[in-house]
Amino acid sequence: MTMSISKMKALIAANWKMNKDIKEAVSFVKSFEKLIKNAKNIDIVICPPFTLFSELNQLLKNSKIKLGAQNMHFEDKGTFTGEISPLMLKDAGCEYVILGHSERRQYFNETDDLINKKVKSALRHNLKPILCIGETLQQRDNNKTREIIENQLINCLNDINENEIKNLVVAYEPVWAIGTGKNAAPEQAEEVHKFIRSLLLKIYNKKISDNARIIYGGSVKPENIKCLMKMKNINGTLVGGASLDPKSFAEICNAA
Ligand code: PGA
Repeated sequence: MTMSISKMKALIAANWKMNKDIKEAVSFVKSFEKLIKNAKNIDIVICPPFTLFSELNQLLKNSKIKLGAQNMHFEDKGTFTGEISPLMLKDAGCEYVILGHSERRQYFNETDDLINKKVKSALRHNLKPILCIGETLQQRDNNKTREIIENQLINCLNDINENEIKNLVVAYEPVWAIGTGKNAAPEQAEEVHKFIRSLLLKIYNKKISDNARIIYGGSVKPENIKCLMKMKNINGTLVGGASLDPKSFAEICNAA
């Protein structure tokens, strides 16, 4: 059955990046949980650094907050110094995993081909991949946004069939909006989200396209969340900076 897009449950994910120690994370969760007591009909995910999984998994046992990772290797185990596997993430209580974040692409040379391997592996292990795609400012200025989005999406989903894809989340994250304080205008984001949905229709089918959660990331704050969430094809957000403070992240969750 296909669900109406506007009725889809929103997904609000926190990307803590390389921030917070155990003490800070525990104190965040304690204040944050009180502030989101009344939040309904949304999925809330926190993606902390790996060192916080064990503590947070305990703390979130009976909570509506889910755990996600910021990255993973595509192999199950082996001689890959410094890497973490999908099995380890599952063991640590993870349900989601961010893949292909622009910071991974930019600073760690991740390519679409590598990200494709990771997406396949995540889906195979029943982890929900949050696949990030997005254009740089230069690409947008050169009218290349659609071309970039289409190439990234097609390459990252290469050889993944319609039976495997159902847990996928796509995050549209324009690189120029990440950590800059300059979010995409809601209409600007909506246009790309709609385009992504049309690509999913082209690659897969109507059911997959209608049911896919397409979330927006890039300078989301309590001040802009409402306008973004009003857009038909925006089904949630991936929040960096504003997710580090329990009050502002709770405001975002409550508004969504
Ligand atoms: P930001 O980061 O909210 O700080 O712009 C978003 C992200 O990197 O996912």
